[in-house]
Amino acid sequence: MSLADLAASVTPPQSPPRVRLRPTMQSDLEFVLSLEQDPANLPFITPWERMQHEAAIRFPDFRHFIIEGGPGLDAVGFVILIGCRSQHLSIELKRMVVQTKGQGFGRGALRVVRRIAFEDLGAHRFWLDVKSRNTRAQTLYRSEGFVLEGTLREAVKLPDGFESLIVMSMLRAEFDARRAQGLELPA
Ligand SMILES: CC(C)(COP(=O)(O)OP(=O)(O)OC[C@H]1O[C@@H](n2cnc3c(N)ncnc32)[C@H](O)[C@@H]1OP(=O)(O)O)[C@@H](O)C(=O)NCCC(=O)NCCS
Repeated sequence: MSLADLAASVTPPQSPPRVRLRPTMQSDLEFVLSLEQDPANLPFITPWERMQHEAAIRFPDFRHFIIEGGPGLDAVGFVILIGCRSQHLSIELKRMVVQTKGQGFGRGALRVVRRIAFEDLGAHRFWLDVKSRNTRAQTLYRSEGFVLEGTLREAVKLPDGFESLIVMSMLRAEFDARRAQGLELPA
């Protein structure tokens, strides 16, 4: 880890605006699908069919949440976890998308969903992959203490070639240490 990475991982980030998560309902799926199809998001995700989201709402191994934020706690995005029944206690942050970027909703939602993963779902390992060109998301994850694990080289096929995926994770001991330092939401 470089010195810059180390500094990013231990410096307490600014307080993000208040957000909360609630389970996604069928009636939210138009919003979810429209966010996925937004040209601002398409380069960074692989959109799902409606049926995949419907399954993610129902199947116990998944958690599908709407992110609510802003003064009126309106829907501002969504987040999906996979592996919630994993025998290895390894939960994946499958997808997180927010509509209005750069206002702290992503950081706020990440903190809430990470607490859910470790505290409510008993994760030992909380991990994700992120496209190599997605520097905004990588900066967020690194500044929230995620550790770089490696690169899945040219793992995603694009119309004009391939893109690599960066794998990052946080282990329970690291989460506990961050909490002891006051870097996590209170229990
Ligand atoms: C990635 C995403 C969820 C982050 O949410 P967000 O609300 O935009 O991010 P935040 O406002 O909480 O910013 C978090 C940090 O990202 C970094 N960041 C923000 N904009 C950035 C940019 N244009 N370039 C590099 N880093 C950036 C900053 O470090 C920022 O923290 P700071 O404001 O305290 O300095 C959101 O931008 C998004 O939905 N992107 C499209 C879909 C996507 O990429 N999902 C993740 C797939 S793994």
